[in-house]
Amino acid sequence: MTTREEIVALDRAHVWHPYSAIDEHEARDPLVIRSARGAWLEDANGKKYIDGNSSWWVASLGHGHPRLQRALAKQAAELDHVSLAGTTHEPATLLAKELLEVVPSNLKHVFYTDNGSGAVEVALRIAAQAWAQMGKPEKTRFVALDGAYHGDTLGAASLGGIEIFKKAFAGLALECLRAPFPEPNAYERAFQAMADLLRREGDAIAAVVVEPIVQGASGMRIYEPRFLRDLRKACDDAGVFLIIDEVFAGYGRTGKMWAFEHASVTPDILCIGKTFTSIIPMAATLVTSRIYDAFRGGKDRALQYGHTFCGNPIGAALAREVLAIFREEKIVAQAVEKSHVIARAFDRIAKVDGVIRVRHIGMIGAADLEPTREAGYLDPIGWRVYDEGLKRGAYLRPLGNTVYVAPPLTIAVEDLEELLAILEASISAAR
Ligand SMILES: Cc1ncc(COP(=O)(O)O)c(C=O)c1O
Repeated sequence: MTTREEIVALDRAHVWHPYSAIDEHEARDPLVIRSARGAWLEDANGKKYIDGNSSWWVASLGHGHPRLQRALAKQAAELDHVSLAGTTHEPATLLAKELLEVVPSNLKHVFYTDNGSGAVEVALRIAAQAWAQMGKPEKTRFVALDGAYHGDTLGAASLGGIEIFKKAFAGLALECLRAPFPEPNAYERAFQAMADLLRREGDAIAAVVVEPIVQGASGMRIYEPRFLRDLRKACDDAGVFLIIDEVFAGYGRTGKMWAFEHASVTPDILCIGKTFTSIIPMAATLVTSRIYDAFRGGKDRALQYGHTFCGNPIGAALAREVLAIFREEKIVAQAVEKSHVIARAFDRIAKVDGVIRVRHIGMIGAADLEPTREAGYLDPIGWRVYDEGLKRGAYLRPLGNTVYVAPPLTIAVEDLEELLAILEASISAAR
């Protein structure tokens, strides 16, 4: 077996890490993970850590779920890969049917992609092309919220409202219209700004794109369901599609299967990913018949878009099994029960020195810490909590000066309590 030291040396020599300053990465002794089971990661020294963010919000069912492992092996043995170009197969078709059974009935067709960014990227392409083919070619612009994060491909990243992610490609990005985030005490103003924008520019706007109820990457920022409800109506009034990006919030994370259920709305286009397959990269974009039908009528009206691995049979088989586990093991109900543990802990954490404010919903809890320099992604305070968390046995990757938990929905209650206790102790120790 390759030793830990060899892995670290190879890593430093050759591996380029996401969202990482090279010098800082090289200066740290990286966490070398060897295996993962349930809510736990194990490193090369045999030390265990609770996976505080479900490995970038993917492992909602925990790691190594035996049913997913079996589904993966079975599908790999039968049909590992075939393109979806002119061919089809059982996993992709059954998955589409089963997905459509768990989303609002206005959604009727599924387009498969490789990852969450792809799911959003194609949603933008679909929206603009659908309008053009419905006789409104001038509807080409998109609206997103301050603080939004919808992925890293150029279109999806253009929607992003987190400045540090955008600086380097500012000149290349689509010019996106931006509306204020509906802060808890500034709802009316934020909605008014959005409504005015839609009224003023609606003829040029293809869609509004939102993360429903909670913005993940910008710091687990939660907003009131009525914003989404009023936004749905404002989109209808302005003749604009509503694209809801459930890549993070979907699959029970907020205590409902889909976060938009908190607002009783339905999207025109729905993007899902991450927990969708829970193991390998695959995502999906679901649309209404009205949108799908706009692409009928010959080759020049086709959606000229596709990724090599879209509809991959292994991904599709996994996604079917994920849905079956959610159904049969009542995962959302489990999440609702455990959400009270998170709520109680964050009420406690709110009183810890250095904590400015806390928030929680479903299986998400977050605390903003007093920044040491400036609030935001570059503040080191979150990383100090991360280091303290590692010492105590939890993986707590921060979002700047926000620290948070978004653990597997299936985490045992004792492990969840331990994770929350570690977070609390790590915040105190980091000051
Ligand atoms: C809301 C949202 N949309 C899209 C994405 C992009 O997904 P991926 O990283 O799979 O491309 C993310 C990733 O965190 C996300 O949180």
